[in-house]
Amino acid sequence: MADAKRKTKRETKRPASSGPSRLERIAILTGGGDCPGLNAVIRGVVRAAILEHQWEVLGIQDGFDGLLKIDANRRLYSHDVRGIQARGGTILGTSNRGNPLHYPVLEEGMTVFKDVTDEIVRNIEKMGIDCLVAVGGDGTMKITQALFEKGVKVVGVPKTIDNDLEATDVTFGFNSAVNTATDALDKLHTTAESHHRILALEVMGRDCGWIALEAGIAGGADVILLPEIPFDLGRICEHIEKRKRTGSRFSIVVVAEGASPASGEKIYEKQPGMDGAPGRLGGIGKWVADKISLCTNLETRVAVLGHLQRGGMPTTFDRILATRFGVEAVNLIAAGKFGHMVCLKGRRIESVPITAAIHGIKRVDPRGQLVRTAEALGIELGRAK
Ligand code: F6P
Repeated sequence: MADAKRKTKRETKRPASSGPSRLERIAILTGGGDCPGLNAVIRGVVRAAILEHQWEVLGIQDGFDGLLKIDANRRLYSHDVRGIQARGGTILGTSNRGNPLHYPVLEEGMTVFKDVTDEIVRNIEKMGIDCLVAVGGDGTMKITQALFEKGVKVVGVPKTIDNDLEATDVTFGFNSAVNTATDALDKLHTTAESHHRILALEVMGRDCGWIALEAGIAGGADVILLPEIPFDLGRICEHIEKRKRTGSRFSIVVVAEGASPASGEKIYEKQPGMDGAPGRLGGIGKWVADKISLCTNLETRVAVLGHLQRGGMPTTFDRILATRFGVEAVNLIAAGKFGHMVCLKGRRIESVPITAAIHGIKRVDPRGQLVRTAEALGIELGRAK
C-alpha cells in the first residue's frame, strides 16, 4: 500500500469526464465468480499500461472488497504477470459476495444492508487511482456503472463462463467451460455405452443454456435441456425409449442447471445456515435422471460437473480473447473512453457503454440457428407443446 498512499488526496470530478487526459496510476480488479482467462486479462492490462504508457498499475485484492479494505492492495510490475496467461483463477482473488450496493454491515448486533459506494469512491481518491479497470460479469458491471455515475473513471472487461452478458458476442471463460463439459461428455459416453445406461450431466450457466447447448452438440448428447426451453418429460422418455428400440441402449442427457419442466419450477440447492434464502441453482440433473429411470425403467446415473467448469487452464481461444480485451481496456483509458466496456463484435474488439451490457441477459434463442442445428441432428430438446 505504500505506493498507493504516495499520492495526495485529490478532488474527484463529477461526473467523470471523457476525452484523453494525463494519467499516472490505474488499478485493476476481478469481481464475481472466477473463470479461466482472468489472469490473461491482468497480464494484458499490466503489460500494455507499463510498456506503452509508463503508468503504474495497482492490483486490487478480492474484487470490490479490496476497495473497502485497502491495505492488501499492491502495485503490479511486469514481472508479476510473467507467464500467468496459462493459469486458471485470478492472481488478484475475487468475490461474488458482498455487493457494495447492498453490503452487509453489522450495526448494534444486527446485519443491515447498505450502499457503501461512497466509501469506495473516497478510497479510490485516497489511493490516487486515475482509472479503475473492472473485470467481471453483469453484477460487477452494475457496480462499475454505479461508480462511474459517482465520478470515478472506469473501464469494464466482460467475463463469465455463462456467456450471458449482453453487448459482447462472447465472454472469455465460456470456451474453456464448454471444453471441460465436452470432455466430460466424451468420457461419460464410453461408460454409458458399456453399461447400457442413461447418463445425465448437469452443467452450469445460471439462467442461460449456452454451455449445455454447445457442449451437448460437440459432445454428441441425445437430449439437451435448456432454461430457455421448458421441457416435457414425456418427450424425453419417448426419445430414449425409441433409441433403445432402434438399437442404441444408452443415452446421454445434458441438463443446464437452470432448466425446468414446463409444469414446474427451477431447482435450488439448500444452503446450510441460509434458511429461507433461495440458494444456488443445482439438483435438476438428479431430478431428471430419477424421473427418466421411473418412466423408462432404465438404469440411470447423474454427474454434476460443478466448479470444474470454472477452474483450470484457459483454452487458447480464451487466452487470446482475454489478452485482446486487456490491451483494448488500456487503449480505451488512453483515449479517455471511460464508462465503456470492451467487447467482441464478429472478429473485432470494440467497446460499448457499460449501460448497454447491463439492461438484460443474453439468452439462447429457442428458435435460433444453434437450437435448430441441434434439432437437425436429432437431439431432443424436450420442447413442451
Ligand atoms: O456465474 C458463474 C457461475 O459459475 C454459474 O454458472 C453458477 O450458477 C454460479 O456461478 C455458481 O456460483 P458459486 O461459485 O457461488 O457457487
